[in-house]
Amino acid sequence: MRAPPTADALGQSLEMRRDPLGLLDRLARDHEAVGLAPIRLAATEGYLVFAPELVELVLRARMRSFNRQTPVYRSLSRFLGNGILTSEGEHWRKHRRVVQPAFHRQRLRSFGDTMVRLCDQALAQWGTEIHVADEMMRLTLAVVGEVLFGTDMDWMAAELGGALDHAQRHTESVVAGLIPADDEWTSRRGRRFAKAVATLDRLAFQLIDERRAKGVDGDDVLGMLLAARDEEGRPLPRQQVRDEVMTLLSAGHETTANALTWSASELARHPEVMERLVAEVDALGDRAPGSDDLPALTYTRRVLDEAMRLHPPVWTTGRIADEPVELGAVTVRPGELVLLSPWVTHRLPGLWDDPLQFDPDRWARAEVPAHPFAFFPFGGGARKCVGEAFAYLEATLILARVAQRVRLEPMDGLPEPEPQLTLGVRGAARTRVTRR
Ligand code: HEM
Repeated sequence: MRAPPTADALGQSLEMRRDPLGLLDRLARDHEAVGLAPIRLAATEGYLVFAPELVELVLRARMRSFNRQTPVYRSLSRFLGNGILTSEGEHWRKHRRVVQPAFHRQRLRSFGDTMVRLCDQALAQWGTEIHVADEMMRLTLAVVGEVLFGTDMDWMAAELGGALDHAQRHTESVVAGLIPADDEWTSRRGRRFAKAVATLDRLAFQLIDERRAKGVDGDDVLGMLLAARDEEGRPLPRQQVRDEVMTLLSAGHETTANALTWSASELARHPEVMERLVAEVDALGDRAPGSDDLPALTYTRRVLDEAMRLHPPVWTTGRIADEPVELGAVTVRPGELVLLSPWVTHRLPGLWDDPLQFDPDRWARAEVPAHPFAFFPFGGGARKCVGEAFAYLEATLILARVAQRVRLEPMDGLPEPEPQLTLGVRGAARTRVTRR
């Protein structure tokens, strides 16, 4: 029989499982002067890297010295396959080139009306008490489905949402070491995961096949994936289209939903901020906000940025070194993990004035750190989030529309963070809704 692992052999794994945000905060506090801290998660050694200039080295200047074979990305690829979030090298480059034009700022402008219409449909169904987190999750899934794939998600939202949620929670358990990787497919939980993946496959293939049957035109992302041809004029294999569809559905809705949930929760706790937001949207008059209003919705944007500063949806990401890389005072060795955490960097006292204070006005002051990687909720470098402009458009319009139509009041105070694959809220953020 194998001896139980000693605390030393486990490194900081237990703490990372029990209270990851507390662990990251403590490491940053203890090592603030050097900008990175050694970390060991079971057999994986590496560093938590949080000084902006070192984050930039990892994501931009030295990005070619790192790969994405982290436990999280390897586990995610079990249900996302080889889409642009999890793939690397030539495959990633080719597919990013196909997908990216669908997210071009100019093209996105035409999506604003759909986003607001779907928001109105959701608002019409809100009762006097809602779980903000659940509502935002449903709404952002509907937006991604309709805008990117041209499909009304009603027919599959519940099944897809359930299967995606199951696959993601399972991935978290594998990454946290709660499920031994060997048991993944054979245990009861493993079989339930396999069932969730089969459901995702069926729904994605149905979506693809229905579009194919209608003809391949359409300038949304699904149309682009189906129209793409390789050098020999061959279309992308059906499985590869499935992987991109699943990647965008997954990467594109929970992140934005969490940004909106945290924004709504902070607004509900800060009536004076809510008043200013309402004044900004009321200046639009009775009409609904649209893409063209984005430049005027500066305060709404500040609220969103401030919510993502304190509660970045992607609270951590990582890379594995392929070769020795000098990062500040250390040399990262091949095979070592580099953990990056917007949660940590966005709260560094050396970078931010009164960092724990929710203060949207800091974005209007010169105090905002000049370094581009002091605030990096969307990552950076060539692998920066492809959906950044989409997310800003969607979240700004939804936040503005919600403020225009209803008042939100928290029923349980500011929720506790739930650090899963993305930074959710514990509980569902029960909120009282009053129509304006
Ligand atoms: C507030 C909302 C969002 C946040 C905070 C966010 C955050 C991020 C971050 C941090 C990364 C980089 C991860 C890394 O470097 O390891 C990323 C990548 C990505 N995001 Fe987002 N994202 C959001 C919304 C979206 C949306 C709306 C979509 C699509 C509809 C999307 C699709 C993707 C994809 C496909 C990648 C991989 C890009 C690549 O590697 O080429 N995201 N996102």
